[in-house]
Amino acid sequence: MANNTNKVVSFSIVSGKGGVGKTNLALNLGYALHRGGHKVMLMDCDLGLANLDVLLGLTPDKTLQDLLTQDVDPADVLVPIEKGGFDFLPSASGVPELIDLDEDLQGLLFDKLNAIIGGYDFLLLDLGAGISRTVLRFSAMTQERLVIITPEPTSLTDGYAMIKVMNSQHGVKDFHVVVNMATDHAEGKRSFTRLHAACERFLGLDIKFAGAVRQDPTLVKAVIKQVPLLKMAPSCDAGRDILQLAVRLKRMRDARLPELAKREGLTQPLENIQE
Ligand SMILES: Nc1ncnc2c1ncn2[C@@H]1O[C@H](COP(=O)(O)OP(=O)(O)O)[C@@H](O)[C@H]1O
Ligand SMILES: [Mg+2]
Repeated sequence: MANNTNKVVSFSIVSGKGGVGKTNLALNLGYALHRGGHKVMLMDCDLGLANLDVLLGLTPDKTLQDLLTQDVDPADVLVPIEKGGFDFLPSASGVPELIDLDEDLQGLLFDKLNAIIGGYDFLLLDLGAGISRTVLRFSAMTQERLVIITPEPTSLTDGYAMIKVMNSQHGVKDFHVVVNMATDHAEGKRSFTRLHAACERFLGLDIKFAGAVRQDPTLVKAVIKQVPLLKMAPSCDAGRDILQLAVRLKRMRDARLPELAKREGLTQPLENIQE
């Protein structure tokens, strides 16, 4: 019998450097996947500088903090972004104990999350920048990772550092790279090729290119209007690139369907990996 608790695939969206477009990509990929008929949960895991709520123009009632400190039902913390299965789990900003979650709290969080994410197809985690312990753990626990870089040399080296630490501390080997704010697709591909060469040579890793998203002033307008870019202007340059990227994510999930079908009972889309 088909078991709809078995189908979620989790993706974390990470970067070495801040301000590279993680939050906007998370939101718009979620939007595109939902428009494509999938159920999507978007989780704000930037425990230091949560701002998905700002991009959406929402003031959430409850946040991840309530989930961890009170006996709150996770379903009561979820905020629908669109009807029919595009939901948002808000985070709290600037709460020091959340920035560096201890293991007990993390365990509690994963138990609570695993209880509600079964009905979704995609779980997207928008993480904070950098290589804090919490970011690394969250990212190691998702099934797929999107590492966001920009063509700037500093973003490339920070992306490399992120991949290196994830690999050495958590044994993660598979990474998909998105080059955001590229002048054009050729520049995006060149940036990826440089990062790929470094990862291959120094880490022995064959990272994958998920795609490039072009620099586009329309995205800045969408941020100012607090509306997802793909809702406001789906056919602008960045919008089209993000749609392509969403197709890539769908393929990544499709590739996992045979293995998902074998899962028994409740799925464990987030695994509590030991350090
Ligand atoms: N493709 C793009 N084109 C133009 N500006 C972009 C693009 N991606 C991101 N930005 C700009 O970068 C800012 C930071 O993006 P954000 O998603 O908040 O980054 P992060 O979550 O990585 O800190 C946005 O508010 C926007 O001004
Ligand atoms: Mg962000």
